[in-house]
Parts: sequence; structure tokens; C-alpha cells
Amino acid sequence: MNISRRKMIAIIGGGTIVAAGVAGGGFLATRTPDKALAPWAAAGGYTDPRKRALSYALLAPNPHNLQPWLVKLEGENAFSLHHDTSRRIPHTDPMDRQITIGFGCFLEQMRIAATLDGLTADIALYPDGSNNAIARVVLKPGATGDPLAGAIMYRRSCKQPFEDTLVKPAQADALSEYAQIITDKAKVSELRDLTWAAWKVEWDTTRTRMESVDLMRFGKGEINANPDGIALGGPFLEGLMLAGLLTREAQADLESTSNKEGMKTYRKMLYATPAYAVLTSKGNRREDQIEAGYRWLRLNLATTQAGLALHPVSQALQEYPEVADHFAQVHAMPAAPGETVQMLGRLGYGPQTALTPRWPLEAKLRSG
Ligand SMILES: Cc1cc2nc3c(=O)[nH]c(=O)nc-3n(C[C@H](O)[C@H](O)[C@H](O)COP(=O)(O)O)c2cc1C
Repeated sequence: MNISRRKMIAIIGGGTIVAAGVAGGGFLATRTPDKALAPWAAAGGYTDPRKRALSYALLAPNPHNLQPWLVKLEGENAFSLHHDTSRRIPHTDPMDRQITIGFGCFLEQMRIAATLDGLTADIALYPDGSNNAIARVVLKPGATGDPLAGAIMYRRSCKQPFEDTLVKPAQADALSEYAQIITDKAKVSELRDLTWAAWKVEWDTTRTRMESVDLMRFGKGEINANPDGIALGGPFLEGLMLAGLLTREAQADLESTSNKEGMKTYRKMLYATPAYAVLTSKGNRREDQIEAGYRWLRLNLATTQAGLALHPVSQALQEYPEVADHFAQVHAMPAAPGETVQMLGRLGYGPQTALTPRWPLEAKLRSG
């Protein structure tokens, strides 16, 4: 069977096609994991303003969709945010740098959502001076609505090939408020090669590949039971699963047909990129990483409003030995003058992709 290349991107690339795919009758027509997507519909539907803001925050982008957040509501108008340390990706993110950026995205989306209720979020980072609490947040009256709020429900990490169309200079200029936007042909070409080479190292290295494979959720049942990680669903992919072509074993095996086909497709996607966003920070303390998350989230909402697609490609930024050369190369770019590259993303015009699963807010709240 010739597996569609477009669909294979999602299989191997850590993407999610939970609601897309061919229309199928019977069994295959009922494969949308509604339970796992319910938090998108529930966003904003709480009477406590903290819960309202948090119900949007949990829709934020975060590495491998691990959703490592735990929230303790405190008093009438405060809460603290903690890391559920059972949720880490130690092989590809040994320093928790990417996980911390994800917390920045969460906090910024919470802050933006709170403005819809006229509330300002006072955020104290690492209030105990340790990793015990990532932030303590107090919501107070006095904000006006943040214009980026309108993009929250439409924002995606778009893991698809982009159109062969240059990013309009005026749009690139507007986005440079958040990150450096690279449209120069030669530099774009270098970054295509680098992102592919680094991705290949991650996939060829057994322990880093298995970190992704172990986080794959195969089909509606697994996605609804564990609405996180790399969700492989929808009628097309479930059809492949029924045919025995898409399995965890095949994903683990570099020699399997689906793996080989998927790698070709992923390469094609990475090369279908007309521009990049490079987000750097002067320091690399936890606070700098959180701040990078604030900026990435704002960039992702701004690209959404501008009709552009954004897709993080983090493999060259990772801190494990096999990828050290790629890390050095990305940091030698003129776009990263002596700074830490916190995020690198493909930028262009792409399709609106399906929603990714989320745990409901109730699963992330702790008392006391
Ligand atoms: C710090 C960070 C690093 C990420 N790195 C990658 C990556 O290398 N490749 C990728 O496909 N997605 C990456 N993502 C995107 C996540 O996979 C995505 O946010 C998550 O699956 C939820 O999907 P959504 O953003 O469409 O809601 C990254 C996100 C963050 C915040």
C-alpha cells in the first residue's frame, strides 16, 4: 500500500491529525476523539475568573504536548503554578529548557485571557527562589483586552508543508517585534539543511527516537485515555492502524516501510519553508526561558492573526551530545549574536490544522 506522503508527515513528525483525513463510513467516521478535544470547547466556561483564564492557558503550545502544569488555587484571586516533574523529556530536553519555555507560553496565554475580564495578572516568577513553584499569580482589576486574545482558539503549531510563496516583507517586519524573521534565500536554505540534519540525528538516535515513539497515542481510544503526547488519530490513520501498517513497533523500527516513507515526507515538509523565526535571549536563566515563552506565544498568536503558519523545529537547539555540532551551527548564525537561541520556527503560509488534545483543567488543579 502506498501511504499518502502528506499523512505520513503527521505519523513521523510528531504531528496530530485528530479530526482530519478521508471521510470514511461506519467505524472510521466516528474516530474524532471528542473527549480529548473537549477542553477547547470548555475554554472560558467557568465562573471563577482564575479558572476562566487558566482554561485558555492550557491550550498553549508546549513541547510534545506534555502539559506538565499543576495549579494550586490560593485565596480569592491568586494561584501558584508548579511543574509536574513526572512530565519531562529528559533525552531531548535534559535541562528542561524547552519545558520551561512551555510554561512561559502557558503564563502568557493566561495573562492575555485574563485581560478579557479586565484583569491584570501580577506574575512573580520562582517566588521561593527555587523550582518549587514556577510562578505565583495574583489577578487584579485594571486591564484592557489584549488584541491577541482573538487568536487563541485559532492558534496552531502547523506541522505541514508551507506554500511556495515568500512571506510579505511588511508581515515579516511586523513580526520582528517578537523574533528575528529570516527571509533571505541563502540563509533560509542553510536553515533548511540544518533543521533536516538535526532532525535526522534525533530520529537516528535510538533513545531520542524512542522518547517520541513512547509518547505516541494510537487512535481514538488511546488519545481519549491520554490526551497528550503525539496524537495519531482520525479516519485515515486509524485505517492504517486497522491494516497493521501503523504500529508502535513500526515507528520504533528505522527499517520499516512507514518509517522510511515518513522520513522522506518529513524532509519534504522541512524543505517546504520560505522563512524562519529565530527567538534568542541574552541570558539563559529560568526567567529568560520563561520570557522566551511569553514572546513565542505572542509571535504564534500574531502569526495566526496575520494568516501565517508557524512550526517550532527544535532539534538543532537541543542539549544532548549527538546534536552538539548542530547546536553550535545554529548559535553561530548572525541572527544569534552571542545569545541563546531559545526557539526556531518555520514560518510561511500553511493550512489550518486540526486541534490537538488537552487534559481538562480539573485534571491539573490541586488544592492547598
Ligand atoms: C518549546 C517548544 C518546543 C517545541 N518543539 C517542537 C518541535 O521541535 N517540533 C514540533 O513539531 N513541534 C514542536 N513544538 C510544538 C508542540 O508539539 C505543540 O505546541 C503541541 O503539540 C501542541 O500543539 P499546538 O501548538 O498545535 O496546540 C514545540 C513547542 C514548544 C513550546
